[in-house]
Amino acid sequence: MNPFFQSWAQQGSSVSAEYDLFFWLLTVVCGIVVLGVAAMIVYSAIRYRRRSETELPPQIQGGIKLELAWTIIPLIIFMGMFAWGTSLYLKMQIAPPEATDIYVVGKQWMWKLQHLNGAREINELHVPVGQSVRLILTSQDVIHSFFIPGFRIKQDAIPGRYTTIWFRAAHAGDYRLFCAEYCGTKHSGMIGWIHAMEPREYQEWVERGGAEGTMASMGEKMFHQFACANCHHFEDPGNCPNLRGLFGTQVQLDDGTVVTADESYIRESILNPGAKIVAGYDDFMPTFRDQISEEQIAQLIAFIKAIGPEGSKPIGGVGTSAISGTRPGVR
Ligand code: CUA
Repeated sequence: MNPFFQSWAQQGSSVSAEYDLFFWLLTVVCGIVVLGVAAMIVYSAIRYRRRSETELPPQIQGGIKLELAWTIIPLIIFMGMFAWGTSLYLKMQIAPPEATDIYVVGKQWMWKLQHLNGAREINELHVPVGQSVRLILTSQDVIHSFFIPGFRIKQDAIPGRYTTIWFRAAHAGDYRLFCAEYCGTKHSGMIGWIHAMEPREYQEWVERGGAEGTMASMGEKMFHQFACANCHHFEDPGNCPNLRGLFGTQVQLDDGTVVTADESYIRESILNPGAKIVAGYDDFMPTFRDQISEEQIAQLIAFIKAIGPEGSKPIGGVGTSAISGTRPGVR
């Protein structure tokens, strides 16, 4: 079978079956409506055609019951489909809180993936069956789209911002990964595999870990290498905001607005520090644009999460050992 259609035949994730049911409901209902309308047009054109030059049809004043019926019945059917579609969409977009994060960077023409334990992969992703995985995607050049047809998920990877999508693999197996956004010459070669593994098998794979330590510990190294630690003290905040416990909190800015300290906020503060100034601090931090890669930014974010309230709560599954195993020794 053609690999593309083969991918659609797989029902690999927790939403695949419902997604397919919904898709076929839409197709069948809309198909019935299209065929019904077309058949009525053809039938009426023949049945009620003008038979002589002088023929005048009888005038019809309308039928209130008929009109109410063809308004209300479709309304109920289509609002029902809208409600189901919305709830399915939200279910597919909003990751459950216990999901493990995996950072994804798209570039021409490959996918680069980082696990919290520091393991890195290119064009391949190993995940455990039955556990929720949240992907945090960005791109270092143009727009790409991370597409796993077997899991029924697709999400753009956009330069300059983070997007997320999540899935829970339901059956062990290999699933194709495509780039689904035309991104240049070798777009069609920007493909790979998702390996959904039984938890025990996955545990063996994950324990091999990253050669350079967890993402958070690599982020801590960055934190010192880029001399962030010279100003962002953890014990006595001086000229720079204290980053401990920052992640996920509300930050008061000097223009009176409030922003949530999420991945995008941290990334922006590294690349464009003047964009959002924390209330009570001066705008003198230099930009690290051109000095730091998207992967390194992700590591810094993992570090800041690990020292924040989000990092200190167990995030379940593989992520727990990844972070608490080598909890960065902050000063
Ligand atoms: Cu990346 Cu198409």
